[in-house]
Amino acid sequence: MQRLCACRIGRHRVFVVPPWTQGSGLSWSCPGSRPVPQLLAYEPVGPGSAPLGVMSGQCELNTQGTYYGTVSSFAEEVRRYWDEDSLYYDDVSHHHPVRPAEQAAWQAALAEVLPPEPSRVLDCGAGTGFVSLMAARLGHMVTAVDISSAMLERLKAKAGEQSLNIEVLEGTAEDPPDGPFDAVVERHLLWTLPDPLKALRAWRNVAPFGRLVLVESIWGEVDPLEALRGRARSLLAHLRCAKPEHHAPYPGSLRGQLPLASGTSPDVLAGLVSSAGWVSPQLKRLRDVEWASSLGLRWPERLIGVSPRFILHANSAPSHS
Ligand SMILES: C[S@@+](CC[C@H](N)C(=O)[O-])C[C@H]1O[C@@H](n2cnc3c(N)ncnc32)[C@H](O)[C@@H]1O
Repeated sequence: MQRLCACRIGRHRVFVVPPWTQGSGLSWSCPGSRPVPQLLAYEPVGPGSAPLGVMSGQCELNTQGTYYGTVSSFAEEVRRYWDEDSLYYDDVSHHHPVRPAEQAAWQAALAEVLPPEPSRVLDCGAGTGFVSLMAARLGHMVTAVDISSAMLERLKAKAGEQSLNIEVLEGTAEDPPDGPFDAVVERHLLWTLPDPLKALRAWRNVAPFGRLVLVESIWGEVDPLEALRGRARSLLAHLRCAKPEHHAPYPGSLRGQLPLASGTSPDVLAGLVSSAGWVSPQLKRLRDVEWASSLGLRWPERLIGVSPRFILHANSAPSHS
């Protein structure tokens, strides 16, 4: 049992945890603290140190007035969330579009930005494999990396059904396999990384002559008009008693550590891509994908449309255009 000190910062009670407890699942106790309602962030001490993880589980008061919970690392908490979400993720049509027109629109969009096939493509945060499967169908040699084994199981099952050969690796996107790759791709991963710049730099190192392809959309609060549209969509979904997009909201203790948790703005992403050393960033709106997706919407959702989708691509070296 590890005794910890706590102080309150804003809404969070922040615990100082020795670095060696990271990911160890150790129990902790905090004498004298007041009831703590839910998951809590904790931070290590030391110059330039980033948050190490989160407290997981409800805190309980024992007879000595001591609070108990478990410590798990940030990565473990993220993995747990997506392992659970894997049961529901593909039920949402824009996570895993199946209509032929949507598939065709996505295929055209990816074919345009990927290098000539067959190239070596790394899909970071591949999840249930929408991008990996499409790149493999286009004739590329795909390596799919994800932190969640349950998400990857879905990918493997689909690859098997479609007789596609995809290398599947469980791991973190910030620590990619060596490569070298001709392209590094991600779709909707960056928002859930605590240090997106670090990941973008790591991807550049494993694709020294390759291309970066970020597949993103406008969501959250990055644009006031789109935020309004998003609220209208949520209201209609609520009125229709539609299933939520995920099994649960992303834990607040994780969101607090994610710089892009309130949305991925093209401006911010283009800045990060350049800061990471990628050159010639190019932004492309995926209007055909949006059109094909909106054809599948009901009224009045059709009037609101889908959120704007875009690809930001860039190169490792100026000569690779
Ligand atoms: C929103 S889903 C996107 C999945 C997939 N790219 C897609 O387009 O459907 C985010 C994925 O990122 C994975 N993920 C989150 N943090 C990660 C990390 N640090 N390294 C690798 N994968 C991560 C999750 O397990 C999840 O599968």
